[in-house]
Amino acid sequence: MRYFATPISREASDASIDAWQAQLVERGWGNWAVARRDTGAFIGYVGLTVPKRVLPFSPCVEIGWRLMRAHWGKGFATEAARAVLRAGFEQIGLAEIVSFTTLLNLPSRAVMARIGLIDAQQNFEHPGVPEGHAFRMHCLYRLRREEWQAAQPAPSA
Ligand SMILES: CC(C)(COP(=O)(O)OP(=O)(O)OC[C@H]1O[C@@H](n2cnc3c(N)ncnc32)[C@H](O)[C@@H]1OP(=O)(O)O)[C@@H](O)C(=O)NCCC(=O)NCCS
Repeated sequence: MRYFATPISREASDASIDAWQAQLVERGWGNWAVARRDTGAFIGYVGLTVPKRVLPFSPCVEIGWRLMRAHWGKGFATEAARAVLRAGFEQIGLAEIVSFTTLLNLPSRAVMARIGLIDAQQNFEHPGVPEGHAFRMHCLYRLRREEWQAAQPAPSA
């Protein structure tokens, strides 16, 4: 939670999980649990959500991630996010997927760049972060389905 304005309580965390599980049931997509293939251990989430707040580029669908620290630095967020992009464009049929974070969250920005999202050069003040807070200014990354398709390797013969 280093790049969030405040940590969240256990109750707020549980409420988020409940909301995400309800979205998975209602929409068929949302924030999915991420499990390691080798051990089956739950290590966090990666998924697609519709931001609750109105943002300068709303309406939109956001890809996001949060992994337990012990599982950072191994490529798992990138691997899971690539699978989520594919599901978003091929199965769900989204026209565009965005992601955003505070300018200072370089690990998250690196995941955005690795999976092919493009910095829209459209920084904005996130209304959920208090005015004057160091994390208020956010960057916006976005990727359209045609751009994603063009970047996929051609199927081998
Ligand atoms: C954002 C977050 C998921 C990024 O995690 P991460 O471990 O940096 O990202 P990945 O899982 O994609 O791993 C990439 C790293 O694994 C390394 N790696 C090691 N083995 C690898 C492999 N086999 N394949 C790919 N990458 C590998 C990469 O080189 C890269 O390391 P680097 O950062 O030193 O260049 C993590 O920092 C996090 O959960 N943060 C807290 C929550 C948060 O801020 N969420 C975003 C809010 S907007």
